[in-house]
Amino acid sequence: MDPARGTESVLTQAAVLFEGERIAWLGPAAQAPAADEAHDAGGRAALPGWVDSHTHLVFAGDRSAEFAARLAGEEYSAGGIAVTMEATRAAGDYDLTRLLLGRRAEAAAGGTTWLETKTGYGLDVEQETRSARIASSVVDDVTFLGAHLVPDGIDAEDYTDLVCGPMLAAVLPYVRWADVFCERGAFTEDQSRRVLAACRDAGLGLRVHGNQLGPGAGVQLAVEFGAASVDHVNYLSPADVQALAASWGDWNAGTGTGTPGTVATCLPACDLSTRQPLAPARELLDAGVEIALASNCNPGTSYTTSMAFCVTTAVLQMGLSVAEAIRAATYGGALALRRHTGNDADGQRAVGSLAVGHRADLHLLNAPSAAYLAYRPGMPLTSAVWRAGERVPG
Ligand code: NIG
Repeated sequence: MDPARGTESVLTQAAVLFEGERIAWLGPAAQAPAADEAHDAGGRAALPGWVDSHTHLVFAGDRSAEFAARLAGEEYSAGGIAVTMEATRAAGDYDLTRLLLGRRAEAAAGGTTWLETKTGYGLDVEQETRSARIASSVVDDVTFLGAHLVPDGIDAEDYTDLVCGPMLAAVLPYVRWADVFCERGAFTEDQSRRVLAACRDAGLGLRVHGNQLGPGAGVQLAVEFGAASVDHVNYLSPADVQALAASWGDWNAGTGTGTPGTVATCLPACDLSTRQPLAPARELLDAGVEIALASNCNPGTSYTTSMAFCVTTAVLQMGLSVAEAIRAATYGGALALRRHTGNDADGQRAVGSLAVGHRADLHLLNAPSAAYLAYRPGMPLTSAVWRAGERVPG
C-alpha cells in the first residue's frame, strides 16, 4: 500500500525489487524480474517506511516527574525545556551520541526509515553547535532550534541576537533547516520573525513550532516566510486554515506536481501527553492542506518514537481514513522535509513513497492489510524494515 497518490493505493499479490539503495521495479508478483535474493512476505502488508519529520532526539536526562505533575493537573509550559537543557549540557559527547543512536534504532525498529531531529537543548553557541554536529552524524535531516527557549539570566532580545548571529553561523555547516518556537513563554512574533529572516538569509529551509498552546502568529508567519512546515497547529482560526490552504493553491495532490506549500504537521502523541486538543487534521485536509503526522519524540511533551501510535490515533480519534493517516506519516513527512521528489538523475532520492528510482525504504507489517494499524491498536505490528535497501536489524 502506498497512498502517496491518493486512496486507490493497494496492489495485491505484489512484489518489489531493490537494486542497491533504490527501488528498481514494483508490480504484480507474477511478472517480477529475477532477483539474486528473495524474501517471501507471506501475504503481509507492505508500506513505505515512516518519515518522521519532527523530533527532538538530542537530549539527556529525565522529565517523568513533570509528566506525573501534568497527570495531577499541572499545565505544560515551555519552562521544562530548561531542565533538559541542564542535563544535556552536562552529558559528554559519547553519552549524547549513544542516547541518540539508541533512539534512532528504536524508531527504525518501528518502521521509521527517514528521521529529522532538532537542536534546542543546548541554547548557547557551543552547546547548540555540539548538538547539531552530533545530530548530523546520526540522522537524515537536522534542524537548528536555538530559538527553543530563552535561557534564564539573558535578555530575550539579546538572546535572539545571539541566535540570529554567532549561533546561526556556528551551526550552519551541520544543518539544513531552522525552526522557531513561536509561542507564549517562548519567542514572540517579532523575535520569531527576526529568527526566520536571519535563517532564511543564511540559506536554511524554514519550519515553525506554531499554535501549540494557544492561538498565535506561528501559522501566519510560517506561510508568510514560505516555511516547509508549521508544526503542532492545535489552535487554528479560520484565517489560519485559509492561509495554509492558499499556500497549496498551485499544488496537485493527485499527481504530486506544482509548488508545495506549508505542510501542517500534526503531533497527536504530544497532544495527548500535554492534554491539548488534537490538531484539526480532518478540517485541514478538507480545506486542501497537505498534512504530516510525526512523533515529536522529546522528553517533555511526547516521549515516543512510535509513528504507528500516531497513525492509530489519527484514524481512531482525528477522523482520518487509514490511507490518509498512512499518507500523512510517509509522503506527508517527506513533503514537510521537501524529500518527496528525486529520482536516479537527481541529487536526492525521494522517500515516503514507493516508485522506481525512489529510495528502497519498506515497512512490512505483521498483518494482511494496513487497516490492522487501527484495528489492532497498540500491537507491535512491524514485521521487517528495509532502509535504503538494507534490512534493519530487529
Ligand atoms: O515540540 N514545543 C516545543 N518543543 C517541544 C517540547 C520540548 C520540551 O518540553 O522539552 C515540542 O513539544
